[in-house]
Amino acid sequence: MQLPSLTPSFRSVYLIIVILFVTACAVVPNIPAVPTSTPTPAPTPTAEPAVDAFTMNKQLARTVNLANALEAPKEGDWGVTLQEQYFQLIHQKGFTAVRLPVRWSAHALETAPYTIDPEFFKRVDWAVQQAFANNLVIIVNMHHYEEEMAIDPLGHQERFIALWKQIAEHYQSYPNALLFEPLNEPNGLLSAKLWNNLIVSTLQVIRATNPTRNVVVGPTNWNNLDDLDELVLPANDQHIIVTFHYYNPFQFTHQGAEWVQGSNSWLGTKWTATNGQKQYVQFDFNTVGAWAKKNQRPIFLGEFGAYSKADMDSRILWTAFVAREAEARNFSWSYWEFCSGFGLYDLTTNQWREGLVQALLPPQ
Ligand code: BGC
Repeated sequence: MQLPSLTPSFRSVYLIIVILFVTACAVVPNIPAVPTSTPTPAPTPTAEPAVDAFTMNKQLARTVNLANALEAPKEGDWGVTLQEQYFQLIHQKGFTAVRLPVRWSAHALETAPYTIDPEFFKRVDWAVQQAFANNLVIIVNMHHYEEEMAIDPLGHQERFIALWKQIAEHYQSYPNALLFEPLNEPNGLLSAKLWNNLIVSTLQVIRATNPTRNVVVGPTNWNNLDDLDELVLPANDQHIIVTFHYYNPFQFTHQGAEWVQGSNSWLGTKWTATNGQKQYVQFDFNTVGAWAKKNQRPIFLGEFGAYSKADMDSRILWTAFVAREAEARNFSWSYWEFCSGFGLYDLTTNQWREGLVQALLPPQ
C-alpha cells in the first residue's frame, strides 16, 4: 500500500492506525455461507495423545481371534455370526483384545473406485463399537485378500491400496484402541520385495489420515518367522507392531484339517512337551526375540492354535507352552480362534472349553 507523505511522527501514528484497521478487518469473522445441502457431520476428532507401539502392544497381551465370521465370503457362511455376547464373554474371561479378520475384498466394487459397501462398513463399525463397549482393543485386518494377492499381486495392488484408503478415512477419528493390519499372511507371488514396497505405499495412504494409529505388519510366507529378515519397514514409522503366526509342528496343529491336503495322515500326532518339542519352540521364539531386539520393534504373535482333531491333552499342553514362551519374551499373543474348529468356546453348549482357556490364562 502506498503511504501519503507526512512528518515522521504523523507518519508513525498513521501507520499504527492503518495497521489497527487492517488487523481489525482480518479478525472480523467470516459470515458463513448458507449451506445448499445438509453437510455430513464431521467425525469427532480423537482428543487422545498418540500411543507408542510398545505401549499399545501391552494392551494386546491376551487377544482372541474373532474368526470365521467377517472373513467368510458372507458372514454366517462359516457358522459364525457375531453376537454382542461374544464380546462380553471375551472381556469377562480376562482377554484384553480381539483380532477381527475381515474379507473387505468381497464387499467392494471390483473396478475403480473400488467402493466398499456402506452396509458392510456398518457391520464392521458395529463390531468395533462392541469391542470398545467391552473395554477391548480391536485389530481390524484384511483377511483372505492374500489369496488374490498371492496369485497376481501387481494386478491387485491398486485395489488393495484403494480399499485401505477408504478404511483409513472411515476410521480416522476412532480411538487408539482400534488398530489396522493391512494384510493377513502375505504369501505366494507376493514376494518380500513386492510386499516391502506395498507396505510403504499402503502406509502412505493410511498415514495421510491416521498419522499415529498403530498398524500391525508381518513377514511373507504366511507371516512366517523365517521371513522376518526379509521384512523391511519404514524406519521413521514408529507406530508399527510386527506380527508372526505360529503353528509348529504343523503336522500336530493341522492334523485332520479339511483345508490342508493330506492332513488326515497326521491324525493321532501328539504333543507331550518332551524336551525336544519344547526346545524347538524355544529356538523359534529366540529367533523372533533376537530380530525384535535388533530391529527395536514390538512383537505380536497374531495367530497360534491347534485344531480340534488333535487330542485335547496335547492341545492344552502346546497352547500353554507357546503362550508362556511368548510372554517370557514380551510378545503379546492372539489365540486362533474363539468358537470354530480351534475354538475356545463351544457354541453348541454355550460353554468355554475350560482346559484351553486355563492354558491361555492360568490362575495367577
Ligand atoms: C487362516 C484360516 C485358518 C487358520 C489356521 C488362518 O490364517 O485364515 O483360514 O483356519 O489360519 O490354518
